[in-house]
Amino acid sequence: MYNLLKGKRGIIFGALNSQSIAWKVAERAHEEGAEFVLTNAPIALRMGELNELAQKTGSQVIAADATSIQDLENLVEKSMEILGGKIDFVLHSIGMSVNVRKGKHYTDPNYDFTTKGWDISAVSFHKTMNVLYNKEAMSEWGSIVALTYMAAQRVFPDYNDMADNKAYLESIARSFGYFFGRDYKVRVNTISQSPTPTTAGSGVKGFDGFIEYAEKMSPLGNATALECADYTITMFSDLTKKVTLQNLFHDGGFSNMGVSDPVMDKFE
Ligand SMILES: NC(=O)c1ccc[n+]([C@@H]2O[C@H](COP(=O)([O-])OP(=O)(O)OC[C@H]3O[C@@H](n4cnc5c(N)ncnc54)[C@H](O)[C@@H]3O)[C@@H](O)[C@H]2O)c1
Repeated sequence: MYNLLKGKRGIIFGALNSQSIAWKVAERAHEEGAEFVLTNAPIALRMGELNELAQKTGSQVIAADATSIQDLENLVEKSMEILGGKIDFVLHSIGMSVNVRKGKHYTDPNYDFTTKGWDISAVSFHKTMNVLYNKEAMSEWGSIVALTYMAAQRVFPDYNDMADNKAYLESIARSFGYFFGRDYKVRVNTISQSPTPTTAGSGVKGFDGFIEYAEKMSPLGNATALECADYTITMFSDLTKKVTLQNLFHDGGFSNMGVSDPVMDKFE
């Protein structure tokens, strides 16, 4: 490995199980020499799997519902105490649509579910940055990354209201990223990842067919969770200091494709 994160301190949201993208990021960050705190919603911690990752990476776990400013304040204060200083990198790897979970169609949602899913999947990123910004918790040249999906730009009918949540999330990265850059030299970006077999990913209707379609459309094939972790590590490292306010596609080329030979073959 390359010691890309040696001496850096971080907070990693959203590792649920070993398939989670955040889990892979934590493993890779550990290998690259970082120290970090792991966090997830209290209900996710009850499953207990995160302790295994904490042990493996020598990390502590702090529960936080990412929609609660109070929980986030506690998380950020305790993380600085535990890690012994300001934070160099933060991963927001959180997404959930209540409408998808409850089988509500995009054309007829329950709007309380819409609001709840938006709060969890998008506004939680604003709240996280609000707390980091107002507590002056980020180091200069620190890096904040949130994970997103291309349904923010293009239509994927079964992605439901998560498409709108991702569009909002990406906009928050730009808007808050301006103030973070101007005032603290901190960069803020979103990484737009290929479909990936995780708990959140597999919750989307028709996921199996879709992941195969994306694989056939992408010249390099779908990006795996581990490859996403590798890319995220570079965004946390000092090698990407002037990249900010970007939505970075990490998808094997899918986002710029019209059609591919393997897909054409199916119709000829
Ligand atoms: N899997 C895919 O196909 C795919 C593709 C592109 C982007 N993404 C994005 O990657 C991110 C991580 O998802 P994943 O695929 O690793 O799935 P995952 O299910 O492993 O992770 C989602 C996480 O969100 C957490 N979460 C939910 N509500 C929360 C709350 N109130 N407070 C704090 N945490 C909460 C869950 O506990 C879980 O750890 C999400 O933003 C997702 O939209 C996933």
